[in-house]
Parts: sequence; structure tokens; C-alpha cells
Amino acid sequence: MYKNEILSILKDWNDWEGRQDIGILRSVYLNRLEGLITGSNQIITITGPRRAGKSYLMRQMARRLSEKGVRRENILFVNFEDPRFTSLDTKLLAQIYDVYKGFLSPTDTPFIFLDEVQEVSEWEKWVRTMHELKKAKIIVSGSNAHLLSRELGTLLTGRHLDLTVFPLSFAEYLMFNKVEIKGAFDTVGKEAQIDGFLHRYIEAGSFPEVTLSAKKTEILLNYFDDLLTKDLLKRFRVRKAPAMKALIKYYFSNAANLMSFTSAGKYLQVHTNTVERFSGYFEDVYLIFLLKRFSYKVKEQEKSPRKIYCVDTGLCNSLGFRFSENIGRLAENIVFLALKRKQMLEPQTELFYWKDIQHREVDFVIKEGLKVTSLIQVCWNLRDDKTKARELRSLRKAMKELNISTATIITEAMEGEEKLNGYTVKTVPLWKWLLAEEVALLRVWNI
Ligand SMILES: Nc1ncnc2c1ncn2[C@@H]1O[C@H](COP(=O)(O)OP(=O)(O)O)[C@@H](O)[C@H]1O
Ligand SMILES: [Mg+2]
Repeated sequence: MYKNEILSILKDWNDWEGRQDIGILRSVYLNRLEGLITGSNQIITITGPRRAGKSYLMRQMARRLSEKGVRRENILFVNFEDPRFTSLDTKLLAQIYDVYKGFLSPTDTPFIFLDEVQEVSEWEKWVRTMHELKKAKIIVSGSNAHLLSRELGTLLTGRHLDLTVFPLSFAEYLMFNKVEIKGAFDTVGKEAQIDGFLHRYIEAGSFPEVTLSAKKTEILLNYFDDLLTKDLLKRFRVRKAPAMKALIKYYFSNAANLMSFTSAGKYLQVHTNTVERFSGYFEDVYLIFLLKRFSYKVKEQEKSPRKIYCVDTGLCNSLGFRFSENIGRLAENIVFLALKRKQMLEPQTELFYWKDIQHREVDFVIKEGLKVTSLIQVCWNLRDDKTKARELRSLRKAMKELNISTATIITEAMEGEEKLNGYTVKTVPLWKWLLAEEVALLRVWNI
């Protein structure tokens, strides 16, 4: 490409002349990212589902650096999804770097942001060299976990730190809706309003653009089309498009249910191996998550049936899940996603479900290191005495087996605490639990 062509593209994506739109600040991610950048000499990789807000986060980071005194000429942002770039290879990367140096003459080690870097073939070679020669601090993003991890696996092992961006947490969702919560006690008098937002959060999900727009279903269906055609069919060279689409719909309508590859295969009349392969791809692009059963034996964990969770409840709903009938399962999905976000900040934790031979179940077991630290049961409607007795029985059994004296039941509206034989079970409404988790995280990360 000609130098002036490259330069005019770069000008469009950097704050050199005008200012980029950086949207609404997502402080949890921003502070975490800043910590990773300033606290290490590693390459930073930002991954996560398509449209979760990775590019916006990168732009927010670039802006923050300049606000903190990094001079404009020491920041370069490149978006490889820009269709004006041709022949996306390491030669182009070198050319871009030359044009940037020639035009701006950086005065210090520059921060280089490479957005959607997986579009560039052999990008990791160039990035690794720049990093080794200490020529730049590099931050890359990509939608595809598999592609990134496979390539990083070979060339960037031990040289990078990763940050996963998810759609909005409930606290972020409230902020995007201009509802400000300043702390755990700032909710008094706002309960009804918050509860209304919670129902919308469950129904429409929390992709940033969807949250800010009135055309929610239309946008979600577009996301789904892009995901299917660009991330799945094209990238993994899959020819059986109808089978793949049917499997996604099957998973979406079974969010928070147990599944096995064999039964999914039988139901859809697709070979078990195909189901397993496709499911791996879905996980790679962060469309679904498959949760394993807790066991002290790794082998048992591996062969256990999985529970399915979907990256966004709005996406489930837009593809035919009936919201009003399944709100309990969608609420469980929301809790799972909140735990996943927390895991992103506390990577030493592991997540499982629990089930014994009498088919008693607990939705979430959280393990930190070798120790189980928390048990969570999601039960949307706990008013029925029989249901309540059943949930408590399962929890007590799990508490005894896993040697933990407290557990939590998350419900739509009930609140309380039950003590029995030294075991304590707390009941909390979902919105309260979600906000309390977030406040705790903010405290841990000094945000
Ligand atoms: N922090 C934010 N503030 C406002 N809008 C946002 C924000 N993050 C994302 N969006 C919206 O969501 C869309 C997708 O975000 P983007 O950062 O491009 O996602 P990704 O890079 O993960 O695919 C954006 O075009 C914008 O409309
Ligand atoms: Mg992007």
C-alpha cells in the first residue's frame, strides 16, 4: 500500500487530529487493563465475544493514557477491520510502523494497539519481535479465542497477559441506563426501579449497543448472523450450516440445562462427533459455556454431562426462547455470567455444578485453589414450601460433602437466613446479589 493511503487510515482511528468516540467508560475493565499494562512488561491480549466492547475498551485505554500524560505521538491505534487495508500480513505491519514513525516521530517507547489483529496473517511474529526488542508496548484484541490461543500458544507463550471482555454486568447496565448506584446502601427507595431494569436485563441481555438502542431484536439477529457466517462457518470452514444453526438453537433453548453430546446428536440427527466438534467451536467464539460437574477426580469431571450457559440472555430470547416461561433458567444464566466476570478478575477460581447419585443438584460450586469457598443455588420462585424444602435438602447435602458451612439461594424477591445444625443458608434477591458482587469486586480492585 502507498504511504499516504496508510496514513489517511491511521488518522481516522487516532486522536492525532480529531477525537475518537470512546462511549461510556467501563471502569472495571479499564482499571484492570491499566493495571496489566503498567504493572508488567508483557504483551496484553484482549479477547471476548464479538460486539462485547473490546474495540471501545481499547480506545478508552488509549484516551486514558493520553490523559495521564502520554504524548499523542507515543500512541498508535490500528483497526484491521478497516476495509481499506489490503494484503493483511507482516509486511503491512512493518509499513504501518514506518509510516507512523515517519509522520509522528515518537519520543518514547510507544503504546501500540492492534485491534482485530487476527485478521493479519502471522501477526504474532511481528508482535513478538517488537516486544523482544522492546520497541513498543503492545496491546492486541481479537474475537476468536481459539485462533488467538493457538497462535499465542506457539509464539507468545509466557509473554502475554489476557483480559476477557463480556457484555455489560448489571451495575454497568444500570449505568448505561443512567441509573447511578454509589454503593451497597444506595439502593434504598430505588428497589422497584432496579427490579424493572433487572427484568429488561434478563430479557434483552446486555450487549452495549443493544442496551443503548431501541431496535434490540434486530441488532441481536444481526449479531447472530455475523457470528454464524463470519466467526463459525467461514473461520472453521464448516459446510453443514443448517446442522450448526440447529445445534445453536438447541443449546439456546436449553440454557441452564444438563446436556450430553449423544442426546443432542440423537435429537438433531447429527453424529455425536460433529456435535462435539461444533460445541468446541461455539466455546471458542464465546457463544456458549459448558460447565463441568464438581468432583475431586479430574477424570470424573471430564466425563460428566455438562450444563449449558449462553453468552447473553438476549441472544437466547431473540432466537426463540420463551422469556416468560423460562425466566428461572435465564436468571440462572445471568448468575453464571456474573460468576464468569468475577473469574476474569480472580483467575485462580474455578466453577462447577454439583450433583449426587440421588440426583440432588446445586447450581454453582466455586473453588479457590484446593478449597470450595462458595455454594450457590438459583431458585427464582421459592414461595412453594415443597420447592424450598427440596432446595435446602440439596444444599445441606452438598455443604456436608464439601465441608462448607454457608451457602446462598438466589431468588426473585425473597430475603432471609436459615440456620440448622451449624449450617447457614442465606436467601437474597438476584438484583441485590448482582450489585453486592460488583461492589465487592470494586473494593478488591480499588475502583
Ligand atoms: N463503552 C461503550 N459505550 C457505548 N457504546 C459501546 C461501548 N462499548 C461498545 N459499545 C457499542 O457496542 C458496539 C460494539 O462494540 P465494539 O467495541 O466494536 O465491540 P467488539 O470490538 O468487542 O466487537 C459499538 O459499535 C458501540 O455501538
Ligand atoms: Mg472490535
